[in-house]
Amino acid sequence: MPVTYLDNNATTQVDPQVLEAMLPYFSEYYGNPSSMHAFGGGVAARIQHAREQVAELIGASPDEVIFTSCGTESDGTAIRAAIESYPAKRHIVTSRVEHPAVKNLFETLSKKGYRTTFVPVDHEGRLDLDYLYDSLTDDTAVVSLMWANNETGVIFPIEEISRSVKERGIVFHTDAVQTAGKIPIDVGRTGVDMLSLSGHKFHAPKGIGVLYLRKGTRFSPFMIGGHQEKGRRGGTENTAAIIGLGKAAELARRHLAAGSYRCVDELRDHLEREILKRVPRTLVNGDRTQRLPNTTSLAFEFVEGESILLMLNEHGICASSGSACTSGSLEPSHVLRAMGVPFTAAHGSIRFSLSRYTTRSEIDWVLEKLPPIIARLREMSPFWKGAEVAAQSA
Ligand SMILES: Cc1ncc(COP(=O)(O)O)c(C=O)c1O
Repeated sequence: MPVTYLDNNATTQVDPQVLEAMLPYFSEYYGNPSSMHAFGGGVAARIQHAREQVAELIGASPDEVIFTSCGTESDGTAIRAAIESYPAKRHIVTSRVEHPAVKNLFETLSKKGYRTTFVPVDHEGRLDLDYLYDSLTDDTAVVSLMWANNETGVIFPIEEISRSVKERGIVFHTDAVQTAGKIPIDVGRTGVDMLSLSGHKFHAPKGIGVLYLRKGTRFSPFMIGGHQEKGRRGGTENTAAIIGLGKAAELARRHLAAGSYRCVDELRDHLEREILKRVPRTLVNGDRTQRLPNTTSLAFEFVEGESILLMLNEHGICASSGSACTSGSLEPSHVLRAMGVPFTAAHGSIRFSLSRYTTRSEIDWVLEKLPPIIARLREMSPFWKGAEVAAQSA
C-alpha cells in the first residue's frame, strides 16, 4: 500500500536534488574542511556556498549563518547566549504554545531561578500582545517566540513584535523552524536578533540546523571547541548535511518565488473544506486567516485522536494527533489546552500537514477514508450517543 504522507510538520522527505548534492561528500570529497590541504579546502568552499544559499533564503549575510545540529540546538543556543550575555537580567519571556525545544528549556531555567513569563494565547491561538508588552521590564534578558506554530500553523506577527521588543533594548529570538520554505523570511525586515531553522522541516536531512545571529548581537557559544563557525559553534562540520541544507534552501527560495506554495494552500483548503462538509461536529483549531499554508488542525468531537490515527494508518495515511501520552493517559497537547479547546474536541484533534509533494489524489484518498472512520468511531462512543440525544431533545 502506498504511503500518503500528511505529516510534514513532523519531518519531510529529502528532496532528490538535495540527496544528489550530498552524496559525493560521503565517499569522494570527505576531507576535513579545517585541513590545510586543498582536498579539505575544496570542502570548506562548498560549505561557504551552502552558507550563502541559506543566507539568501532568509535575507541575511553569509557570516550571520551558523550551522548547528538541529532546531533544538539553535533554540537552546540562542536563549542561553542571550541570558549569558546579560547576566544581571533574570527575566525571560516566551509563549504558552512553544515547541518543547523552547518550553522545556524555559521550565528548566525557571527551576534555576529565572523569572519566566509564558504569554497566553486566545482561543484561536493568537498571542496576547498587550500581555507580552506589559510583561517586559529592564530586567528582561530575552524574548523568544515561535514564528509559526507546529500544531496549528498559526503565525505570530513577528515583525511587529520584534520592533516593539527591540525598542525596549531586549534581545529577540524567533523559532522559525516551521516557517522556512512555507512563507518568506526576511531577517532584515523583521529585525530579529536570532532565528532558528531546522533542515528536516524543508526537505534537507535530519541532524542539521541553522542559527541566524544578527551582526553585533552579543553571543556566547553553547558548543565550545574548535574554531569552526568562527568559534561560535565548535565541532567538525556535518559536511554532507550542510551541503544538502544549502541546496534545500535554494530550492525553497525558488519554489517560494515561483508561488508553488499556493498549490499547497489550495490542496489544504480543499481537504479542510470537504472534511468540514462531510463530517459533522468538526472544528478547525486556530486562526484560519494567519496560518501556514500547509497545516490544518481539525478537532473531531467525541472521538479519540489516537484511534483515528490507527485507522488512518491502516490505509497508509500518516498524520498526527494533538495529544501527548503522559503517564499512561492521553492528555490534550499544551497548545490546545492553552487555546482553551474543549476537552471533547481537543481529544479528537488531528493535524494534517502537507508539502510541495502532496498530490490531489492523496487528498482524495483521505477524503474517501476519513469520514467513515469518524462515523464508525462515533458509533462506538458513549459520549457521541449522549451528545446526539442532547441535541435531539434541545
Ligand atoms: C516549532 C519547532 N521548533 C523546534 C523544533 C525542533 O527541531 P529539531 O527536530 O530539528 O530539533 C521543531 C520540531 O518539530 C518545531 O516544530
